[in-house]
Amino acid sequence: MIILAIESSCDETSASVIVDSQIKSNIISSQYFHQKFGGVIPELASRAHLSNIHFVVKEALRESKREIEELDGLAVTSEPGLLGSLAVGANFAKGLSIRYGKPVVPINHIEGHIFSGCLQEQSLEFPFVTLVVSGGHTSIFFVKSYNDYQVLGSTRDDAAGEAFDKIGTMLGLSYPAGPLIDKLSKTGNSKRFDFPRAMINKPNYDFSFSGLKTSVRYFLHKNYPEGVPEDLLPDLCSSVQQAIIDALIQKTLRAAIDFNVKSIVIGGGVSANSALREQLSEKAKRNNIAVTVPELSYCMDNAAMIAYLAEKKLSFLNKKQFFNLKFRVSPKGFRAKNVS
Ligand code: KG4
Ligand code: ZN
Repeated sequence: MIILAIESSCDETSASVIVDSQIKSNIISSQYFHQKFGGVIPELASRAHLSNIHFVVKEALRESKREIEELDGLAVTSEPGLLGSLAVGANFAKGLSIRYGKPVVPINHIEGHIFSGCLQEQSLEFPFVTLVVSGGHTSIFFVKSYNDYQVLGSTRDDAAGEAFDKIGTMLGLSYPAGPLIDKLSKTGNSKRFDFPRAMINKPNYDFSFSGLKTSVRYFLHKNYPEGVPEDLLPDLCSSVQQAIIDALIQKTLRAAIDFNVKSIVIGGGVSANSALREQLSEKAKRNNIAVTVPELSYCMDNAAMIAYLAEKKLSFLNKKQFFNLKFRVSPKGFRAKNVS
C-alpha cells in the first residue's frame, strides 16, 4: 500500500510517503520566522503553509521515487491545530483527491503522536502507555490497539512545552526555548533551585504547569529584577527542566505500572528532551519496562506519523468511506468521545 500524507497543523509543513509500512520520505519545512515574534502567529503560519505545501509534497514524492498516480490513498491532519493551517493541508489533499481520484483519510494529530513510536519499533506490542508531550498537549494514554485507547490524564492548564517556552522567555531565551533549556541544562545543577512539582503526589495521571511558571516569575522578580545573570542560566534552566520532567516521568511510570504494560512510548516535541529520554528510560528499566523514544524527526510535528496511521486505517476500514470529502478541520483538541 502506498500513501502520501500531509501535516500542517501548526508551524511545520510536512509531507511523507509510506510504502508497505516503510517510510520512504518525511519532508519537514519549519517556519523559523515565528522566532522573532516569540510565538506562532496563526495568520502568518497559514500563509507560509500555502507557499510551501506544493514544494514539500513534490519533494516527498521525488525522494520516495513514487508518482502520484501510484498512490492508494492520501492522508491529512484534520484536527486539532490552528484552523487556517489545518485548512491549507486539508484543502490541498482534497484537491489532489478530486484530481487523481484517490481517497483521503483524515487523521487526528494527537493520534499520530500516540503511535509515532510504532514507526521506530515496528515490533512494539500492545498494550503500551504513551506520553504525548508537546507545545500544545501533555497527555498520557493507555493504548490497547490502533482502534482502542484511552486518555488516562492530561494537563489541567499549560502544556509542558508551553511551560518550557514561557519560562524561557522570562529567562531571556529565544522561542521556542525548549531545545535551549535542554542544552543549557547539560552544564547546570538541577538541585540548586527548588521549584514546585504540582500534583506529583496526586493519585491521578493529570499534570499542572502553571504554578511552576508563576513560581519562576516571582522568584526572578524578587531576586533578579534587573535580569538573570548569564552565569546563572545553566543552574536555573536545569532546575526548571527537572521540575517539569519529574512530573512527566513520575506520572507516566505510574501509569505503566498501574496498567501493567511492558512498554512506554513518548512522542511530541518535548520528547526530544535529552534528560527526559535518559531519566525515563533509566527509571523504567528498573521496573522492567522498555521505553521507545522515536528519532527526532518523528518526535516533532511530521507527516510520517500521519502516513503510518492512515495506512492502518485504510487496511482495517472500508476504503470507500474515505472518498467522502465532507470532513472538516477543527482546532479543538481531542475527540475524547470517540476513544473507548
Ligand atoms: O510537537 P511540536 O513540534 O509542536 C507542537 O507543539 O505540536 O512541539 C514543540 C514544542 C515546543 O514547546 C518546544 O519548546 C518543545 O516542543 N521542545 C523541547 C525540546 N525540543 C522541542 N522541549 C524540551 N526539550 C527539547 N529538547
Ligand atoms: Zn504535535
